[in-house]
Amino acid sequence: EKHAGVSCVTASMDDIQFEEAARVGQIISIRTKVNRAFKTSMEVGIKVTVQDVLTNAEKIVSVAYATYVAKPVDAGKVELKPVELLSAEDHLEHTLAIERRRIRLGYVQVFQKLMQESNKEDTCEEKDAVSTEHTHVQSTELVLPPHANHHGNTFGGQIMAWMQTVASISASRLCRSHPILKSVNMFKFWGPSFVGDRLVFNAIVNNTFHNSVEVGVRVEAYNCEEWIKDQPRHINSAFLTFNAVNDKGELLTFPRVKP
Ligand SMILES: CC(C)(COP(=O)(O)OP(=O)(O)OC[C@H]1O[C@@H](n2cnc3c(N)ncnc32)[C@H](O)[C@@H]1OP(=O)(O)O)[C@@H](O)C(=O)NCCC(=O)NCCS
Repeated sequence: EKHAGVSCVTASMDDIQFEEAARVGQIISIRTKVNRAFKTSMEVGIKVTVQDVLTNAEKIVSVAYATYVAKPVDAGKVELKPVELLSAEDHLEHTLAIERRRIRLGYVQVFQKLMQESNKEDTCEEKDAVSTEHTHVQSTELVLPPHANHHGNTFGGQIMAWMQTVASISASRLCRSHPILKSVNMFKFWGPSFVGDRLVFNAIVNNTFHNSVEVGVRVEAYNCEEWIKDQPRHINSAFLTFNAVNDKGELLTFPRVKP
C-alpha cells in the first residue's frame, strides 16, 4: 500500500519452503520490498530470518514472494507506478520478478492439465497401503475483527495459519507424531472473505512419499445467508508438505496410502 497509495489485497503466495525452525526466545526479522510493479499487481519479496540471542547467529527461515493487487474499496482498477531501482540487488530482483510472474501465471493451467491427466490414470493399489479416509479433518472458524485487516478482509496469513492446523492434524493421523511443516504450495486467493463469514476447512492426505506427506486443504466461505442456503464460496486451496521425526530427531517413514 506504501507503493500503490491505495488499498491492496493478496492475490497469491508463491510456494514457500521453510529452511529453519524459529523457536521461542529467538528474534525474528521480516524484511519486505516491492520487487516489481506490473499493471495492477506487484510482487513483494519477503525474507524471514531468525537470530539466536545467545550466539547472535542469524539463519534464513524462509524467502517468499507474494503478489498484491491494488484494489481501492468501491473503485475500479488502478495502474501502478514503476518501482524505483536504487541498487544492483533491486535491478536483479526486478529482472527475476518478471520470470517468476511468468511461472506463477502458467502454474494454474499446468495444474489443471495435470488434474485431468491424473484422473484418467488407473489407480494401482499397493499391498499394505493405508486408506486416507481417516485423515479427513474438517474445522469451521468464524472470522472475527482480530482476524481481519483494516478493510475487513480476512488476513491471508490467518487463513494460512488455520490451514496449517487442520493439515497438521490430518498428517498426524498417519505418522502418530507432531508433523513439521516443510512447504506450502499453490496458495492462491480465489476470492475474498470478510468479518462475520464462517470458513470451513477440509483437509485430507493426498499422498505420501518416503519421508514426507502431502495434505490438500480446501477452504470455503459462507456469510449468514449462504450458510442457511448451503452455498459455499471457494476462497482458497493449497498443498502442505510435512516431515515427522522421532524422539531422536530421525525422519519417520510414512506408509503408502490408497484413496
Ligand atoms: C486477487 C483478485 C483481486 C484478482 O481478481 P481478478 O478479477 O482475478 O483480477 P484480474 O484477473 O484482473 O487480475 C488482476 C491482477 O492480478 C494478477 N493475478 C491474478 N491471479 C494471480 C495469481 N494467481 N498470481 C499472481 N498474480 C495474479 C493478474 O495478473 C493481474 O495483474 P496485472 O494487472 O498486473 O497484469 C481477486 O481474486 C480477489 O479479490 N481475491 C481475494 C483477495 C483476498 O481476499 N486476499 C486475502 C486478504 S488481503
